[in-house]
Amino acid sequence: MSHLPEAALIFHEDPGPGTGRRAPRADFVSDAPRLPLNGRWRFRLSGTADGTGPSLPDPGLDDTGWDTIRVPSHWVLEGHGDPLYTNTAYPFPIDPPHLPDQNPTGDYRLRFDLPPTWPSGRSVLRFQGVDSCGTVWLNGELLGHSKGSRLPFEFDVTDVVRPRGNVLAVRVQRWSSGSYLEDQDMWWLPGIFRDVELLSRPEGGIDDFTVRASYSAGTGALLVTSDTPGLVEVPELGIAVPTGQEVVVGEVEPWSAEHPRLYRGTLRAAGETIALAIGFRTVEITGGRLLINGAPVLFRGVNRHEHDPDRGRSLDRETMIRDIELMKRHNVNAVRTAHYPPHPEFLRLCDEYGLWVVDECDIETHGFIYSGWEGNPPAEPRWRDALLDRIRRMVERDKNHPSVVIWSLGNESDSGSAFADIETWIREHDPTRPLHYERDPSYRHSDFYSLMYPSLDDLERIGQRKEETPSDVVAGSPDDVRRRGLPFLLCEYAHAMGNGPGSLVDYQVILESYERFCGAFVWEWIDHGLAAVDEHGRRYYRHGGDIDYQPNGERYCLDGLLFPDRTPSPGLLELRKAIEPVAITVEGSSVVVVNKHDFATLAHLGFRWLVEVDGVRVAAGMLSVPECAARSEVRVPLPDAVDAPAQDAAGAVSRLASSGGETWLTVEAVLAEDTRWAAAGHVVAWGQTRLGPGTPARPKAHQPHAVASHRDGTVSLGNATFDSRTGRLTHLGKLALDGPTFDVWRAPTENDHGQGPRNALAADWQAAGLDRFLHRTGPIEHPDPHTLVVHGRSGPATRTLGFRTTCTYRWQDGALHLLVEADPVGDWDDTAYGHLTLTPPRMGTRWSLPGGYTDVVWFGRGPGESYADSRAAARAGRFAGSINGMQTPYLVPQENGNHVETRWLELSGPGLPTLRVDGAPHLDFTARRWTSEALQAARRPHDLADSGRVWLNLDHGQQGVGSASCGPALPERYRLEVRRYSWSMTLTVVRGS
Ligand code: GAL
Repeated sequence: MSHLPEAALIFHEDPGPGTGRRAPRADFVSDAPRLPLNGRWRFRLSGTADGTGPSLPDPGLDDTGWDTIRVPSHWVLEGHGDPLYTNTAYPFPIDPPHLPDQNPTGDYRLRFDLPPTWPSGRSVLRFQGVDSCGTVWLNGELLGHSKGSRLPFEFDVTDVVRPRGNVLAVRVQRWSSGSYLEDQDMWWLPGIFRDVELLSRPEGGIDDFTVRASYSAGTGALLVTSDTPGLVEVPELGIAVPTGQEVVVGEVEPWSAEHPRLYRGTLRAAGETIALAIGFRTVEITGGRLLINGAPVLFRGVNRHEHDPDRGRSLDRETMIRDIELMKRHNVNAVRTAHYPPHPEFLRLCDEYGLWVVDECDIETHGFIYSGWEGNPPAEPRWRDALLDRIRRMVERDKNHPSVVIWSLGNESDSGSAFADIETWIREHDPTRPLHYERDPSYRHSDFYSLMYPSLDDLERIGQRKEETPSDVVAGSPDDVRRRGLPFLLCEYAHAMGNGPGSLVDYQVILESYERFCGAFVWEWIDHGLAAVDEHGRRYYRHGGDIDYQPNGERYCLDGLLFPDRTPSPGLLELRKAIEPVAITVEGSSVVVVNKHDFATLAHLGFRWLVEVDGVRVAAGMLSVPECAARSEVRVPLPDAVDAPAQDAAGAVSRLASSGGETWLTVEAVLAEDTRWAAAGHVVAWGQTRLGPGTPARPKAHQPHAVASHRDGTVSLGNATFDSRTGRLTHLGKLALDGPTFDVWRAPTENDHGQGPRNALAADWQAAGLDRFLHRTGPIEHPDPHTLVVHGRSGPATRTLGFRTTCTYRWQDGALHLLVEADPVGDWDDTAYGHLTLTPPRMGTRWSLPGGYTDVVWFGRGPGESYADSRAAARAGRFAGSINGMQTPYLVPQENGNHVETRWLELSGPGLPTLRVDGAPHLDFTARRWTSEALQAARRPHDLADSGRVWLNLDHGQQGVGSASCGPALPERYRLEVRRYSWSMTLTVVRGS
């Protein structure tokens, strides 16, 4: 056996991409034998790059005392060391291409035999992903080395592998020169984390081939080229041609994300048959627009990292399918593989389920921002090979997927001459797909203008091709002119961190308004929380700040539309509504159905309608919607029966005496048949319209009750009892309660915190003291015998600012009517602490109720939470939920569970009187077992303890959620100005009193 050459020890610091590897080639499924080498391997972790030393490859080494580890996996998630999370920072000194001596290194060993049937031809050992690099030996022979964590590499082992007793050894350094090119905002997760396999390459087999299947005006053309001549057969199309011969196919159905039509066939050579899944489609940029199959497309996309809370980036096929099903069910039609090529199986699944893919290369050098970009690899010749190597491995691996429509050169790596070389290489090897790169302001190597997180106003200007010239570009220069002519791809927007993102509908309206846009990708798909168990055995999700390591990116990895366990967050439900491919509205006596698909008609959808009065169904039916082409609309008369329920409604109204009268028509577009990703009946889109004025029916007003003062220090008004000193309501019938407390606070959301010092609203609020108002009860008056007025003033210590409040109560018709008025006082303009105009996050009242309340029924928007700028997914209707179930368990506790436009709500609990609150006309409400302060103080959802009381917020409203944790400030219109507010409500005890 050969001993570890000295050079092997410094492989990991060599900026070169690797040694000994085979040329990159397509990933495909063939009938050639394949031996998976996944399973339990021997493993030992050492503290430095030398690992266990030079004996690792020695077949005779006794490794029986080593641990075993699952392959594929990340060793830091298998009990060896810690995962680390940084956003932009390198977790090692910027000293390229060197790495510190402290370099945890995993040595792996596997013994394997070949199956008796293993053919005698060539054998290839393939690694689909090793983070950050691997040096590989088989039977003591050094095969080579490779970097590029999320890309495959192969060695020809024909002359080394033997029928029995093979010993495969792999040394994996956590840090390598490759790490300088992999500074994506994500966990650093070392290890052999994708499949390892031995592939038989039969005599007369095909090593590599390229499928070019184009589509134009109803017809397709097919050209398959391969390194070994073979026969291409697509029986369905009657094709049987040798490789290298272009076939004009005639009429075919094109492939699209909406209709992922694949033609199955084979590529057969003497020694091997390869399965083909051909999708005919043509991607082009014409007239400043992206066209696919000749038609404009709009990506309704997400940025997807590979993430699983237990397995990190080592995903199984079921999880990939789960992601795709969830995307399709939420109207997502496109994925940017942020920020590296995914497991190849994911792309096969995208071909089959139908998703447009922007395939992004494993290149990000963001941390050079801390050297002022000095030494940035794309600008340094010595890194050229490594960068090109990554591009070649991506393009060659993924070139045959119809789903891949754009190559993205990488993420956030500034600029440099390597991008010109990359561009030249791709254009030469794959002229069929446009290129995307966002971070070079010249956009010379990109076919798209692209940005992250623009404001709505900026996006609007971009749509009009009137954007400001980027700062590094000369106005009117060729770059400036060229960029303005490019289509625009919004590669990241709507930062889904915590509660949010807001404004999804606002963005979508703009994206659908200008031809320049080809779509947008929300940041990001899933929270990267890693499963952990605390000292009490409670499961929680770790973020960067939970690991004792500096620097770390703290909670910034928790910014997805899915919680780590893949439960959809309210943000995903809002996205589904904002991007729905069918818009349904009512104009006059017609239902207007707009088909926003780029290719599909509406034939795959059924339309059902439903009329509800005060949330109670009174009529329903199916709507017959005629044929409607993509990007067009049809008008359908309102169902005849819609008038009839209006009469029914009168009856219904009288039954729902205290509140009724609002009539709503809901029309839903549902899948007519089962699909691969959802069952028939799945709701794709919906629209709602309020029919008629719907004045709430209220009983006639009777003479109000008079206020009475009592010797025990109470004041009564009808059924209500107040403390005569504080003016607080203490009883409503038999219900003992306490309130209202004037309250402008909410537990800050991640977006309220902003991004560092940018848009740090929560810091300003706290500096001004909006979280610590003190209250003074002013005079309590009876301006007339029927009215009780409680004055007050609320504001923080040390400041003049605050609100003067007036609560006016009347008892009439068996209910307590409350008008709350709040007038700003003092100096709100003193922005000594802050950088934005100070505005309160909330304008509300807080009430304390017995902890025995369990359930809420309400009529308003629901069933999920809603906010001023994130409310499209919440329908008008009648909803029921438990208080416990109304809490959204954001991984970092923060404001949640609000409901805008609530007409009324009823709070009930065993043995307790039911409290009913009617808004006049609307209220925002939240109901919790803890206060906003406790919500704010908790570090994790399980820190939230039942306070023994129920805290009910009955509010005028609160500001929107926005997405300022990365991106623009919350638009002014979603903030609460400092002005006079007034809102009303009626409190009743409806049962049990
Ligand atoms: C972008 C970056 C993403 C992520 C995001 C913030 O700049 O491309 O990887 O860091 O910001 O979460």
